[in-house]
Amino acid sequence: MILRTIFLYYWCLSACNGQTGDDVKSLVTQLFTTNTYKKNVRPNADQTKPMQVDLDFYLVGINGIDEITQKLTTTGFLFISWTDEYLTWNSASYGNLEYIYVSQSDIWKPDITLQNGFSKLKELGDSFINVQILPTGEITWLPTEVFETKCNIDIKYFPFDRQTCEIVFVVWSSSILDVNVTKGSRGILLEALDPNGVWSVVSTSAGDDVLSSESRVVFTITLERSSAYYVMNVIVPVILLGILNVFTFVIPADSGEKMGYSITVFLAFAVFLTIISSELPKTSGSLLGYYLMFQMGIGTFVVAVTAFELRIHHRKDKVPYKIQRIFRSKCKTRVKSSDKNFDNPEKDKENEDGEKTWSDITSTTDFILFWISLVSTFIVTVTILGLLSSKYK
Ligand SMILES: *[C@@H]1O[C@H](CO)[C@@H](O)[C@H](O)[C@H]1NC(C)=O
Repeated sequence: MILRTIFLYYWCLSACNGQTGDDVKSLVTQLFTTNTYKKNVRPNADQTKPMQVDLDFYLVGINGIDEITQKLTTTGFLFISWTDEYLTWNSASYGNLEYIYVSQSDIWKPDITLQNGFSKLKELGDSFINVQILPTGEITWLPTEVFETKCNIDIKYFPFDRQTCEIVFVVWSSSILDVNVTKGSRGILLEALDPNGVWSVVSTSAGDDVLSSESRVVFTITLERSSAYYVMNVIVPVILLGILNVFTFVIPADSGEKMGYSITVFLAFAVFLTIISSELPKTSGSLLGYYLMFQMGIGTFVVAVTAFELRIHHRKDKVPYKIQRIFRSKCKTRVKSSDKNFDNPEKDKENEDGEKTWSDITSTTDFILFWISLVSTFIVTVTILGLLSSKYK
């Protein structure tokens, strides 16, 4: 559709009428047979000057990014134009014939190919694609392709990442002294772009690589992943499960539910990870991956500590004096800070002197571990979220 619009727009500005089929036939015979057109001769009368070729890129779609193979797939077409000095005519002599179409395989064309492609180097376009020729010899060729290009994918900030990829077109065999490809006046165009569900185009640029001896044009596209899906389906559930995990320490050991609860939360987390693993990049190095590992670590820690605590909790023997002494000071602070009305020195003294049982010790441990794990989970979560989301803001 867009192709046809462009064709009509560029080549039918002047009156496209008057010509007959015979005019076209005689022109084609004149150009290709009588003038003995040779498609392997570069069509400059002055061969000391390079053929100037302009290249613009219409991006039609972002088909996807593959993190494992580091591949960007795009659909697009090139707008390539040059002047063929052997394909000119006087339109008045041919019934005002203003343009003709010939197959791309019938004329000389620059051997432009994708340089950072993923598969075998191949000719752009196909023999069914026609080029348009104007009386001045100006040729326009619009080869369309699905381009697979190499691109370094950095998933450190997944799912808030941006990827910058280059699509490089090079003149493969001719030197810059023979064929000089430069970016056209329009560069990379997005008006034909269909939106992608995951990737949106943030910025683009086009440029000639003047430093290299090859003649090439580099189109750069910066893409941003839409992160809302991952926030809702990965990050928020993981944070919620992390909170549930910490609350294991709130359940009293006597209730008999403590172990069951901690294992259930751990299993829920493991099952959840299995479900979401297909949504995550299959390469390592993302901060989110480290965060999931941290949550898994906390989960393991909670289960292990709970098992150990329950064993201690049900011991019948006396608590050794050394352990009593350690916990006595901790308990005192706890009583004071948690109950202001209870600020009775005698009671405190009694509490201090009273012998600690194993169950007192486990409940103190629970209290301390609850706050330690809650605060550390909070700090790590906030840090990771901050790092992830601040990257481009
Ligand atoms: C190629 O074309 C560009 C733009 O027209 C020009 O600046 C450059 O000098 C040309 N290079 C050669 C080797 O002719």
